[in-house]
Amino acid sequence: MTAPTPGAPAGEFDACFDPRLKRGNRNAKWTRHGPDALPAWIAEHDFRPPAAVTRAMRATIDRGDFGYHDLEDDVGEAFARWSATRYGWSPDPDLVYTCVDVLQGVTAAVTALAEPGAGVILTPPIYHIFLQICPTARRPQLEWLMRYDADLGWTLDPDDLEALVRRERSARVLLWCHPHNPTGWVAGRAVLERIVELAHTYDFYVVSDEIHADVVHRDSSSRFVPMLSIPGAAERVVTVTSPAKTFSISGLRCAVMAYADRGLRRRVREAHPPLLLGHAARTGIDATVAAWTRGAAWADGLVAYLTDRRDQLAARLAAEAPAVRFHRPDSTFLAWLDASACDLGDAPAAALLQQAGAAVSEGTEFGTNGEGHVRLNFGTSAAVLDEILDRLAPCLNP
Ligand SMILES: Cc1ncc(COP(=O)(O)O)c(C=O)c1O
Repeated sequence: MTAPTPGAPAGEFDACFDPRLKRGNRNAKWTRHGPDALPAWIAEHDFRPPAAVTRAMRATIDRGDFGYHDLEDDVGEAFARWSATRYGWSPDPDLVYTCVDVLQGVTAAVTALAEPGAGVILTPPIYHIFLQICPTARRPQLEWLMRYDADLGWTLDPDDLEALVRRERSARVLLWCHPHNPTGWVAGRAVLERIVELAHTYDFYVVSDEIHADVVHRDSSSRFVPMLSIPGAAERVVTVTSPAKTFSISGLRCAVMAYADRGLRRRVREAHPPLLLGHAARTGIDATVAAWTRGAAWADGLVAYLTDRRDQLAARLAAEAPAVRFHRPDSTFLAWLDASACDLGDAPAAALLQQAGAAVSEGTEFGTNGEGHVRLNFGTSAAVLDEILDRLAPCLNP
């Protein structure tokens, strides 16, 4: 087993993990594939949130305080502080609005800003649920494809975006996944600046999903830069995010839509009035405010622990499954593995579930360039990750 990084509170994260508890908890990650499979699929890590989060919810429960509420101010302030201290960007709390979850906010912003018939740009391989938006909303889907380089891994080239928007004049929204799921790529400031410049020149908007922002590995040369902090972004960018990935509180349902321009905010809210869009849950708001107010040290420990797990995965794949092509991600607890050299057929994740009893996500779900790939979630304890790899490694060879 891999030694933990000095300074990472490995004990806390190792100890708080109990797979049987997760199954008993009705947690989809642990129950979907039956009692014997080990899960490495859905993008959720296995750690309990910090005590401050559960304490905040418990106080609301003890008061029985479950009526209509009006708490957007608390969330806006908490998000503004979190963003300012961690990323050096201070959003205006008055322009931060809650919604139920990130996908709801993303879909609302995309459909408000891309009129019917206008094109929406995605960056495949991409978080698979994004691929449902255009067919459902009847907007043409356009693709700015990622490129693979042996040294750099998966990246996007803004020249490709410019060629696309020159060609496809109907393009009105770039749905931006920042950092990128499933590849873990973190776009740098120069790329973000170029996107904003192109958005002005070619008249499109950016809906920036920043739900994975907090987990950027410390040894990465990349740093997370909020899209709205880029000069000129205000009139062109809506950011949607939440603490759900960092603190593993997705079931609590609270996210934010952040703007830096009142006109843009008005456009989205006129298309989706808040009372029709749906309100965040009261307990979700409590958890969100607690996480963003008191969760910084815990989040730092989490990232250090996840970096160790990423390196544990890399070391074992190199030693036991060298046919798998894998570039260590700069961010997230997700690994995008090219298993096309392995003898697993057209549906490698299905084959691995059947042969190894470990559930990973099928690459083809992530759209173009997903063939032969699987996404593996390494957000678990060192011991469970070893067990998952004990099962998978013998099946990941030619
Ligand atoms: C990039 C991205 N956006 C959104 C979501 C879903 O977030 P929510 O449950 O808040 O809709 C996920 C979950 O995996 C994700 O990876």
